[in-house]
Amino acid sequence: MVARRADRLAALAGEIGERALAVPADLTQRGAVDKITEDVTARLGAVDLLVNNAAVMLPNPIADRRGEEWRHMLDLNLTALLGVTHALLPGLLATAARGGTADIVNLSSTGADAPVPAFAVYGATKAAVSYLSRALRAELAPTGVRITDVKPGGVVTELFDHATHSGIRERMITAARSGTLLNAEDVADAICYAVSRPAHVCLSQLTVMPLTQPQ
Ligand SMILES: NC(=O)c1ccc[n+]([C@@H]2O[C@H](COP(=O)([O-])OP(=O)(O)OC[C@H]3O[C@@H](n4cnc5c(N)ncnc54)[C@H](OP(=O)(O)O)[C@@H]3O)[C@@H](O)[C@H]2O)c1
Repeated sequence: MVARRADRLAALAGEIGERALAVPADLTQRGAVDKITEDVTARLGAVDLLVNNAAVMLPNPIADRRGEEWRHMLDLNLTALLGVTHALLPGLLATAARGGTADIVNLSSTGADAPVPAFAVYGATKAAVSYLSRALRAELAPTGVRITDVKPGGVVTELFDHATHSGIRERMITAARSGTLLNAEDVADAICYAVSRPAHVCLSQLTVMPLTQPQ
């Protein structure tokens, strides 16, 4: 489990037990990916499942030209995902070559397909993630590595809290309080289903929507 807040990771690792490995790191920092790869492969050996989950969503109208926010979304949502995927690929290939199931799960979003004003850059990073998932599937299917692109609709998490546009943030937090959105467990459950299929079955794309969210 990789994230920046070591205390939150340690608490979660404590809940899961000794099979969990907490690796605090900021994926946007130079050298982080190499360190993660070293720590994980030294403790756990070849990786058989990579969930590319970390992302940030910073909606603002394009006219506001929030260059720092654009860079942050591109660095984490796209560049870090590529770096981690590349670094852990040898382990995944080795697992698949031994006949085991080897999975890369990429968290995209329904925002990749349904443009929403002020979400252009976030949506563009997620459209890129979905494209990458399809392209990697074409490239890696012969090796036995499966790729699953997961597109959730609205989920109650901390994602909305980081928005710097107060009006948009308040709207999203109000939606989160409505009781109609998904929980993180709903998405995790779909991922568990996908990666526990027999090795010859690939759920290449999963859309997980709150029942009442139209698109
Ligand atoms: N929530 C939704 O409605 C929704 C909808 C569609 C898709 N998604 C996608 O679902 C995925 C999970 O998002 P979420 O909703 O669970 O958001 P979240 O609650 O904000 O979780 C983001 C996770 O990424 C970690 N993270 C953030 N920046 C990082 C960095 N620089 N380096 C390492 N880890 C970092 C965070 O931990 P730290 O802060 O401790 O680093 C946290 O564990 C994302 O890809 C998001 O785009 C979410």
